[in-house]
Amino acid sequence: MATNPKLDLLQSYPFEKLRAALINSHYHGDLAPIPLSIGEPKHPPPQFVIDALSDSGALAQHLATYPATRGSDALRQAIADWLRKRFTVSASAERHILPVNGTREALFAFAQAVLSGQGSSLVGMPNPFYQIYEGAVLLAGATPFFLANTASRGYQADFDNVAAATWDAMELLYICSPGNPTGHLISDAQMQHLIELAHRHDFIIAADECYSEIYFSEQTRPSSLLAASDAMGNPDFARCVVFHSLSKRSNLPGLRSGFVAGDADIIEKFLQYRTYHGCAMGTHQQHASTLAWQDETHVQENRARYQEKFEAVSDILQPHYDLQQPDGGFYHWLPTPTDDLSFCQSLFAQQHITVMPGSFLGRDQPSLGNPGANHVRVAWVAPLADCVEAAHRLAEFANDVRSD
Ligand SMILES: Cc1ncc(COP(=O)(O)O)c(C=O)c1O
Repeated sequence: MATNPKLDLLQSYPFEKLRAALINSHYHGDLAPIPLSIGEPKHPPPQFVIDALSDSGALAQHLATYPATRGSDALRQAIADWLRKRFTVSASAERHILPVNGTREALFAFAQAVLSGQGSSLVGMPNPFYQIYEGAVLLAGATPFFLANTASRGYQADFDNVAAATWDAMELLYICSPGNPTGHLISDAQMQHLIELAHRHDFIIAADECYSEIYFSEQTRPSSLLAASDAMGNPDFARCVVFHSLSKRSNLPGLRSGFVAGDADIIEKFLQYRTYHGCAMGTHQQHASTLAWQDETHVQENRARYQEKFEAVSDILQPHYDLQQPDGGFYHWLPTPTDDLSFCQSLFAQQHITVMPGSFLGRDQPSLGNPGANHVRVAWVAPLADCVEAAHRLAEFANDVRSD
């Protein structure tokens, strides 16, 4: 039976690798398990969204209509208003914005829509990285080009050392700011440098900004590729596209709601692709999403919760680890005293805590190895008390590892 041979290029997902890696690690004590491996938001969703979804009269109406792929006027306008307030950019609700069912499907579908399908074309992406970028590129028939985010360079990619021929072969560049897993930001100046390169070498930039609303100080409030583009005299966002989501911002990962915004020509092509793909967002989701983008109070409360958690766990971990504070997102990207996989296995067996080995999120690069190695990703999504308990166990574990 013939199936798409490109499917064989896909690696198993990091959570599957982790499950296999822990199969022989057994915990025999009486500590409760604390999972810190999955970045699934756990704070409560806003009540007004639940109320809107529970309105049976509205729901009956919404379920009885086919939704439009380009989304309702109300939703696109709410997103345009949010972009103006949050990043002071003027995006047209008509031309620059497209609702999507979360950024995961959009980041994947975008590659299918914009790449030429030639095996020689490159798609740049950070390394370590959100795994969808690689799968999207491989299934679109292109080749990933990894830009390492190493500790020695402050977890920033070295864009300056990429050969001109590589930029020439590039059709798309994924960037992620705040980064998953590193939590680092790409500055406006760096984004503008990338936009210049995109114009010079004719590629598109896809900026995954789904963690932009979780940050720890107003000084490091994440910017957007759209704002960087606007500030350099490119108010039509040529070659720039951003991906935003309600999953992290509003604790609505189950709603499957986000948007793509930027270059009107690219958005139009993406809309055409999506019309055939048949992935319109349900009308009830669109309605709930409109309300969520219109409200900032719940976003501020959510951010304050993460700030409180990071303060609490950082105080506990600081004396025991080389702790780098993220600029944004809800992960610590923690350097490990031993190799990351055995660290995870022993941590589980001794402390009943699950974290993600960094090497599962990265890929080997020539003369560099895997830039995710010797790190673990710790997702502080559990309730505060569980996070504090987990931080104490991690601190105790670090002492045990050192005295071994
Ligand atoms: C970097 C990054 N991008 C995109 C996503 C997808 O989020 P969603 O599809 O819920 O918008 C995630 C989810 O964990 C992520 O970490």
